[in-house]
Amino acid sequence: MSRIPPHIIDEIMQTARVEEVIGEFVQLKRSGSNLKGLSPFTDEKTPSFVVSPAKQIFKCFSTGKGGTVVTFLMEKEHYSYPEALRWLADKYNIPIPEDRPATKEELEAISEKESLFIINDFANKHFVNNLHNTDEGKKIGLSYFLERGFRPEIIEKFQLGYSINKGDDFTALAQEKAYKKEYLEKVGLTKTKDERSFDFFRGRVMFPIHSISGRVLGFGGRTLFTDKKVAKYFNSPESLIYNKSEILYGLYYSKGDIIKYDRCFLCEGYTDVISMYQAGIQNVVSSSGTSLTKEQIRLVKRYTKNITILYDGDAAGIKASFRGIDLILQEGLNVQVVLFPEGEDPDSFSKAVSSSELEKYINEQTQDFISFKAGILLEDGNEDPLKRSELIKDIVHSVSLIPDSITRNVYIQSISKQFSINEQILNSELIRLRKGLLSKKFNTKEFYDIPIKREDVKPIEKESKELNQRLEDVERDLIRILILYGKMEVTPPKHIAVSNEEQKDISAAEYIIHNLLEDEHTFINPIYARIHNTIAEALGDNSFLLPSHFLKLEDQEVVKFVSSIDLDTHEISKNWRDKYGIHTNTEKDKLYDAVTKAVINFKLAKIEHRLSQIFEAKQKDQDHESLMALLSEEKELLGYRLTFNRMLGRD
Ligand code: CTP
Ligand code: MN
Repeated sequence: MSRIPPHIIDEIMQTARVEEVIGEFVQLKRSGSNLKGLSPFTDEKTPSFVVSPAKQIFKCFSTGKGGTVVTFLMEKEHYSYPEALRWLADKYNIPIPEDRPATKEELEAISEKESLFIINDFANKHFVNNLHNTDEGKKIGLSYFLERGFRPEIIEKFQLGYSINKGDDFTALAQEKAYKKEYLEKVGLTKTKDERSFDFFRGRVMFPIHSISGRVLGFGGRTLFTDKKVAKYFNSPESLIYNKSEILYGLYYSKGDIIKYDRCFLCEGYTDVISMYQAGIQNVVSSSGTSLTKEQIRLVKRYTKNITILYDGDAAGIKASFRGIDLILQEGLNVQVVLFPEGEDPDSFSKAVSSSELEKYINEQTQDFISFKAGILLEDGNEDPLKRSELIKDIVHSVSLIPDSITRNVYIQSISKQFSINEQILNSELIRLRKGLLSKKFNTKEFYDIPIKREDVKPIEKESKELNQRLEDVERDLIRILILYGKMEVTPPKHIAVSNEEQKDISAAEYIIHNLLEDEHTFINPIYARIHNTIAEALGDNSFLLPSHFLKLEDQEVVKFVSSIDLDTHEISKNWRDKYGIHTNTEKDKLYDAVTKAVINFKLAKIEHRLSQIFEAKQKDQDHESLMALLSEEKELLGYRLTFNRMLGRD
């Protein structure tokens, strides 16, 4: 079964009525603005099953189940997520694309795209035919490939071709076949100048670029003339079907092996991919024609989290690798590097040695990015302290880009060992860089940024059950505000804003996320962590997620939580007023207060938790140095606790 497209999921969710669907299974009676009935999940005598038509959610107070209409079907009928959606689509007569006649606009867009695909496919077959079945193609194109050392079966597999060196060889044929000139131009195969149309690729060997599913999106064409004035490679322009920054050459062929070996080799061009593939290393792609983009990295991330960059041993290759490394780290992937001997690229090297030698070389020469950078930058300045410190800063900068705090920490430890530098010092540099990074991202100043150690998110310990409950409470409240009011603007009162520049409005979501330092491990509750990460990620792309976004997700734990905060608002408000002095009913009006209170309460709970850990640690045998470190951390945290309590008006 094909996937249900997001706009259809939207349509289903907007059309389906929770009360109607549940009404088929449960007798519902009106009760205030809600409907009530006997829970279908238990054998109860008094109704505790509530449906809210206004909010389009349900809650079963006997079993704790709750969520949207989809959740209900998944719980009651044990449907999978898509099955539940299809059931609803069927009930409400919402056609799912494969069996729905498309609208006129859709048809036009589809047909234009389709036409471009068909033309590229036609061109591809034409070029392949040229290579194998024309004199010119065989003599010039095929012999070139064979001379380069590409084996016939590889030439066939990668569908390599040849474009005849004549003005309009392809264009004339395509027009004969009644392909529209407009489309031929759109995919870049035909150029028109002064009413005259001619082929874009002429006398070139052709490399088709495939989508993940194997459709031809565009071409790279390498000239066979030695004339320096002719560009070595021509590449198809971007089009409706070809977005260069989101395509990786070779992925269509390599994705299976990328998954299998849980690693993706990344090199520079068409020839590198083909040669490596031929040499038996088939989990390989290239970002041909562009420098590596984050979209391309995200594409790899679907298959593996491990990228190994294969670079030429020349200076330009190395410079390019540094940018690539940072980009990969930033996307949360692991990156390693293999440097080829001077003057060799993956293509030439894989041909200069046997397959087993190549494999051996790669295995032996794979280094993590830290040693790679160190090796390059310290080449001859090993003893120069200034150069050394610059290098270390450079490496810590790369580490600071990694989104995951635990991974960052592991790298810091390793740098500390490799360069014999105190971890504390590296960590404070890291914190400085992370702050700068986030300020830049959100263009705001951090208001309450305090150094809380990572240990504060350790699994729940028995003796601090109450503290852990409090942590969960504050986490819940923060996430609740994030979801309900994230999009609203919070304006810091004049006396708090530090400068005029800081006076500008930021959204509640920006404020909260920024204050949590975007740390993936801030939350002990994994559901809250997932919600937080989703919102933070969207925010990074400057978009805000509304509660309705979460109600559509497949992750039913999240759906359940998000639908519960709506129903529970009243209950919480009472609780929180008593416990922490937050007034939910007015929090919308005084959003700045509500948000800062939630953040401060959150940080206070973390401080409390960490303090109790320190307290425990102090009881144990500690060497002098550790004890001093604990005491100074404790002192610092006590200071923060005092400040925060004062801010909340508690002394
Ligand atoms: N490349 C490109 N555009 C260019 C030059 C190179 O897209 N103007 C890409 C191609 O994908 C090519 C790879 O970079 O496969 C390697 O470049 P290069 O070694 O210059 O190309 P080759 O075809 O291997 O040329 P040569 O035979 O001279 O090594
Ligand atoms: Mn080359």
